[in-house]
Amino acid sequence: MSPRPRIYATRALPGDAFAALARDADLAVWPGPGAPPPARLREACAEADGLLCLLSDRIDRALLAACPRLRVISSVSVGVDHVDLVAARTRGIPVGHTPGVLTETTADLAFGLLLAVARRIPEAERFLREGRWTPERAWEPELLLGRDVHGATLGIVGAGAIGCALARRAAGFGMRVLVHSRTRREVPGAEWCDDLPALLGASDYVSLHVALTPETRGLIGRAELAAMPPHAFLINTARGEIVDEAALVEALDAGEIAGAGLDVYAREPLAPDHPLLALENVVLLPHVGSASRATRLRMIDLAVANLRAGLAGTPLPHDATRS
Ligand code: DGY
Repeated sequence: MSPRPRIYATRALPGDAFAALARDADLAVWPGPGAPPPARLREACAEADGLLCLLSDRIDRALLAACPRLRVISSVSVGVDHVDLVAARTRGIPVGHTPGVLTETTADLAFGLLLAVARRIPEAERFLREGRWTPERAWEPELLLGRDVHGATLGIVGAGAIGCALARRAAGFGMRVLVHSRTRREVPGAEWCDDLPALLGASDYVSLHVALTPETRGLIGRAELAAMPPHAFLINTARGEIVDEAALVEALDAGEIAGAGLDVYAREPLAPDHPLLALENVVLLPHVGSASRATRLRMIDLAVANLRAGLAGTPLPHDATRS
C-alpha cells in the first residue's frame, strides 16, 4: 500500500482486518446510524483513494465523477448492482466484491425459508405465542397443515455457486431438482431445464439465484407467476427487483401461488405499509442471507483484501469489473 492512502468506509466493521486498516491508512468512517446520505458520501469520497462500502450505498456515475482520486471501490457483498460498473470500468476503477465466502450461509437461509414457508413455521410460532394453542386445540388433525418438502420438486433459477449449494441441500431432503440458467451448466444431482416456463410449471418450489442485471430485472413477472402451479412457493434470497413485486402480491393474494419466502425486496427496508406485510402466506426476512457471524467476518476480510490490493495497484482477489 502506498504511504497513508485515504480510505472512506461507509460503516464501522467488526474484525481485525478492518481495525488494521487504521494503522496503514487515513481511515474515515461514517458514524451511522444507517448509510451516509448521498451528499455526505460524495463530500467524504472527494478526497478518498479507496472506498469501502456496503450494498445499501449507491455508488453511481455522479458519485464517481466527484471522486477524482478514487483508485478502488470495495463492497462487502457479492452483489454489485448498487455500483455503476460501467462507469467504474470507464474510469479504470476496480470494484471488489465477495463471492464464495457467503455461498453456503446463503444457501442455508434459502433452504430455511423454503422449510419455513412450506411448513408454516413462523405462523405456527405466532399461533403459540399469541395464546391461541388452547386446551380445546391441543392437537387437531387439521391444525396448521403445510406441504411436504421431501419428495417435492425444487426449481432453481441460476446455476451459480449458491444455486448449486441449494441443490446439494435439496438432494439431502430427497427432492427432485431442476435447474435453469442463462448459460447451461452441469449441476450435480439436478436435471437441466432449457426453458424457464417449463421449470416454473414443473416445480413445487422455485428458488431464485441470479444476480440483478438489466437482463434479470423483472425476470419473474405476471406471466412467470401464472406459469407456476397454484400449490407452488417462490423463494427469493437474491435481489428483490428480480421479481415484479406488485405482480407477486397479486398472485399471493389471489391464491395463484401458495406462498413465498422472501429475504430481499425491490426497496429495502420494506415500507411499514407494504402490502406483503398484510399477507399470511409469506415469510419475510430483513435481507439476512449471509448473516452468520463467521461469514460476515469472512466477507469483511475479503473486502479489506480487495481494498488493499486496489490501493497497492495490484489485481483484486475478486474484481466485479472483470467478471
Ligand atoms: C450480498 O452480499 O450481495 C448479499 O445479498 C448479502 O447478504
